[in-house]
Amino acid sequence: MGRKIKIFDTTLRDGEQSPGCSMNLNEKIKVAKQLEKMGVDVIEAGFAIASPGDFASVSAIARTVKNSVVASLCRALPKDIDKAYEAVKEAEQPRIHTFIATSDIHMKYKLKSSKEEVLERAVNMVKYAKKYCSDIEFSAEDASRSNPEFLYKIFEEVIKAGATVINVPDTVGYTTPDEYYNLIKGIRENVPNVDKAEISVHCHNDLGMAVANTLAAARAGATQLECTINGIGERAGNAAMEELVMAINTRKDFYALSTNIDTTQIYPASQLITKITGMKVQHNKAIVGKNAFAHESGIHQHGMLANASTYEIMTPESIGLSKNNIVLGKHSGRHAFENRLNELGYNLNTKQIDRIFNDFKVLADKKKAIFDKDLEALVQEKVIEVEETLKLQQFTINCGNTITSTATINVLNNGNEVEEVSLGHGPVDAAFKAIDKVLDGSFTLDDYALNSVTEGEDAQGEATVKIKRYGRLYTGRGLSTDVVEASIKAYINAVNKMLNDIEGQEG
Ligand code: KIV
Ligand code: ZN
Repeated sequence: MGRKIKIFDTTLRDGEQSPGCSMNLNEKIKVAKQLEKMGVDVIEAGFAIASPGDFASVSAIARTVKNSVVASLCRALPKDIDKAYEAVKEAEQPRIHTFIATSDIHMKYKLKSSKEEVLERAVNMVKYAKKYCSDIEFSAEDASRSNPEFLYKIFEEVIKAGATVINVPDTVGYTTPDEYYNLIKGIRENVPNVDKAEISVHCHNDLGMAVANTLAAARAGATQLECTINGIGERAGNAAMEELVMAINTRKDFYALSTNIDTTQIYPASQLITKITGMKVQHNKAIVGKNAFAHESGIHQHGMLANASTYEIMTPESIGLSKNNIVLGKHSGRHAFENRLNELGYNLNTKQIDRIFNDFKVLADKKKAIFDKDLEALVQEKVIEVEETLKLQQFTINCGNTITSTATINVLNNGNEVEEVSLGHGPVDAAFKAIDKVLDGSFTLDDYALNSVTEGEDAQGEATVKIKRYGRLYTGRGLSTDVVEASIKAYINAVNKMLNDIEGQEG
């Protein structure tokens, strides 16, 4: 089985911090539950002082999650630490994660502080945090570009002050596997009390080496790996959890490590993040990309038929990727439907199943074959609830290549029926403009994408819409076998998220 290594997930903090990846409260709770279900040891739920919304989501996650440590990030400042503790205090296993930069560049230009001042502040703030909470993580920001001797000193002192985890971030994705291996080895050999703390590593992907660097650190003796689902994160992202975990699993012979992660939850987690953020993973992305288990060439297909191990080093099932079999049709009953959802890893409550089952029946009338991917898309659409301030009743579109498109939209706006008509450049534009007329027009369309959920003429269309107001992005999704309807649903879904966002009400 090998040495157990901890997985620290920062999808909800470093991941959410990246452009286009913001999530609302319900979405963050859903992600946190999935992370807990997959066996993540530590969930970094957010940066409590960053905004009232961040604070609310860290507190809600702290109250919800039972089996993972819940951490909040905070700068090495008393007011940040106060807020972080306030947010995580109701967690079964709370952690305060405080950081300060230790590289010469950051100390000189950002902190305008000397080494001595940074050391003193780090020690004082760890002591300050320790009064609240026994589990304290200390991060030396930009550690990979810091003077190793200074790192040894600061880590020794913060451990004396009560830090239970020391983190060695490669903040700007600058290091290389060999260099990072030596840095972690150096810390193990030169910090006299290092055995009293976990050694954590946190890598960014600016040079495409985040996963390789993290794995090198694991070999050098790191005991906690920080990562995100789909590798989302600042700039080029963070080390991708699915790649780390599957490398450790598939190459047990080499790494002699193990994790607590249930790998069959990897694919559902990846899908969840994609659906919530609207940020798709590239088709050739390792582990969770659309082509990761596709064998196209004749030679490969022949080898696979003879024996899968010829070209497959891990099975699709091991990451929870179901074969694209037809599973259900219009005669399937609720029991079979619920069973299949359970097999796919979704444990939903009766209310949620009722809602999805109705939609499934409507879909089964329109579509001959219902695939697992159709079910997954329905679950992702329905399970994350957003209050429907604006509710679509009906729409009519008149379009063609010789006429200007016209859309008539009938909606309930806060319970009041409103009908608007608009012209547009094509049916989707006309429909969006008709919806705009119902609203105050303070937002703009930032992005629009349309994909098919499965193959085939009757495949469902999945629309993703991003709208922007006062610099905040809201992602909406809509699903239908009719692409115009999918687009309208996605637009209204994004609008509802915006209308329900208490923080984004003014510029
Ligand atoms: O990249 C980084 O340095 C961080 C720290 C705050 C842990 O995200
Ligand atoms: Zn980071």
